[in-house]
This record gives sequence, C-alpha cells and structure tokens, in this order.
Amino acid sequence: MYKILKKEQLNDVVTAFTIETPLIASKVKAGQFIILRIDEHGERIPLTIADFDADLGTIKIIVQAVGATTKRLVALNCGDTIRDVVGPLGMPTEFGNPKKAIVVGGGVGCAIAFPQAKALFNNGVDVEIIAGFRNKDIVILEDEMKGVCNKLHITTDDGSYGKKGFVTDVLKDLLTNDNYDLVIAIGPIPMMKFVSLTTKEFSVKTIVSLNPIMIDGTGMCGGCRVRVGGETKFACVDGPDFDGHLVDFDSLIRRNSFYKQEESH
Ligand code: FAD
Ligand code: FES
Ligand code: MG
Repeated sequence: MYKILKKEQLNDVVTAFTIETPLIASKVKAGQFIILRIDEHGERIPLTIADFDADLGTIKIIVQAVGATTKRLVALNCGDTIRDVVGPLGMPTEFGNPKKAIVVGGGVGCAIAFPQAKALFNNGVDVEIIAGFRNKDIVILEDEMKGVCNKLHITTDDGSYGKKGFVTDVLKDLLTNDNYDLVIAIGPIPMMKFVSLTTKEFSVKTIVSLNPIMIDGTGMCGGCRVRVGGETKFACVDGPDFDGHLVDFDSLIRRNSFYKQEESH
C-alpha cells in the first residue's frame, strides 16, 4: 500500500499527487516511470515520475483524467492509499553531453518534460523550454518550469496566453537563429512527429518519449511494441525515450486506438 501525502489540482483535468514510495524515490532517474494499480480489481496504468525527493522518500505523479482509471485516480485524496506502485521502470534518458538544449512539452506532456529539463539544467546545460497548450486555462507548471531553464516560451493555440501558435513555430525560430545540440519533445504523438520533422531539417539530435499502451511494463507482453529505425522495440524496457528521427509515428497512432471500445469501461 502506498500513501498519498499531497494532492494539488493543476487545472480542471490535471492533478498532481505526492506518494510515499521510499524505494522508488531512492533509485529513480529522469525519464523513468511507474505502473500503478489503484486496488486489486483495477487495471495497471503507466505514469511518469514527474519529480522525486530521495530524502523524503516521495515521488510526484501528474495525471490527466482521460478515462476510467485516471478518473478514479484523481478522485483519491490525501491519506488514501494506492494498492500497487511498481518502478522505477524504463531506461533513464540518455542525454549525451549537450551544451544547449530545447525541451518541448505539449499539454500534460510538460509534466513528463519537466524532470528532463530539470536534470539537464542541474547539469549546467543551457536549457530553453517551449510549452504548448490549447488555451490559457490549461497552462500548468509555469513556475516550476521557469525554475529549471534559462528561458521559458509558452504558446497557446488560440493566443489567450504567451505566443499564439504551435510549439513548432517557436522551435523553428530558435533553430534558425542559434545552435542547439539536443531537442527533447514530449506530448501528443502528432506534436512529437512534427517536432521531429522540424529538427530533422536542422540535423539536431531529437529524443521523444513514447506512450504506447503498456500492460506489464517488463518486456513480457509485447503490448508496447513500437517501430524505430525499421526495428521492433518495446517502449517499456528499451524506452520510453527514442530517437525522434527514427520513430514510425503513424503506426504508433494506429496501435494506440486499437482498444478504444474496451477502454470505455
Ligand atoms: P482509457 O480510456 O483507458 O484510455 C485513454 C487513452 O489512454 C487510450 O486511448 C490510450 O491512448 C491510453 N491508454 C489506456 N490504457 C493505457 C495503458 N495501459 N498504457 C498506456 N496508455 C494507455 N498520463 C498522464 O496523465 N501523466 C503521465 O505522466 C503519463 N505518463 C505516461 C508514461 C508512459 C511511459 C506511458 C506509456 C503513458 C503515460 N501516460 C501518462 C498515459 C496514461 O498511462 C494513460 O492516460 C492512462 O493509462 C489512461 O487510462 P484510463 O483508463 O484513464 O483511460
Ligand atoms: Fe508489456 Fe512493454 S508493456 S512488453
Ligand atoms: Mg483504461
């Protein structure tokens, strides 16, 4: 049983939980995730470790309520417990040795991008973050992101906050006017696809964090298989980070909608 110590509502549909998980907190690195099960009848869902405190023995997860399980999860409160929390899973992000990096987050993807930006920034890398949202009401983690970068660029699709337009507009501007040696992109699959197409033009190394359907999270079930550079990879053990220039995004979009019917209950 894992106890919820803190609950914060970041916007109407996004909630952050701080959970007591001393073993996971002592081992986790940026880019890794957990799989949790709310109770013994629940399904297993993967969530990124958005932040952690090894001294306090806690991890933070940031959850967007999109379906049955995430809606049940965000209804939990401080003091409630979660039956199983397994992790840290997946490979930590391999940053290389960049000097100047851009981290791109889309919507709740900013929660997943945050630990990556923090790890780079704490290592002395010059980091710019581009965070894209549909509108002002759903902007999350603005202060937190400001604390882990040299410059934060916010975009909204409707122009209600920050710069009007898509993250790729700002990305193109930055890449045209300066030299960067790494781009990390995390968000909706089409966003990661178009970021990768943009960075390819500039030949800048690009890491994306993939979110296929995961079941066991240990490389056994094959549910999370993705095509990368013409090879089949399991995102739960080989990823979730991959070279954005090699990922077959279109097959990932198709596979992720296979179980729409079953997921509704
Ligand atoms: P459903 O109605 O069952 O599904 C809604 C959509 O979520 C589906 O169409 C599918 O695209 C996806 N999904 C459903 N079941 C799974 C599953 N078992 N594994 C993966 N995707 C699934 N979401 C966050 O809000 N915050 C995070 O930090 C986060 N990190 C993730 C890290 C990884 C490595 C992966 C693979 C996914 C992550 N997700 C994250 C997505 C999250 O797991 C899904 O939103 C969640 O499983 C949806 O469950 P549901 O029952 O509420 O919705
Ligand atoms: Fe089963 Fe990756 S989730 S192999
Ligand atoms: Mg579900």
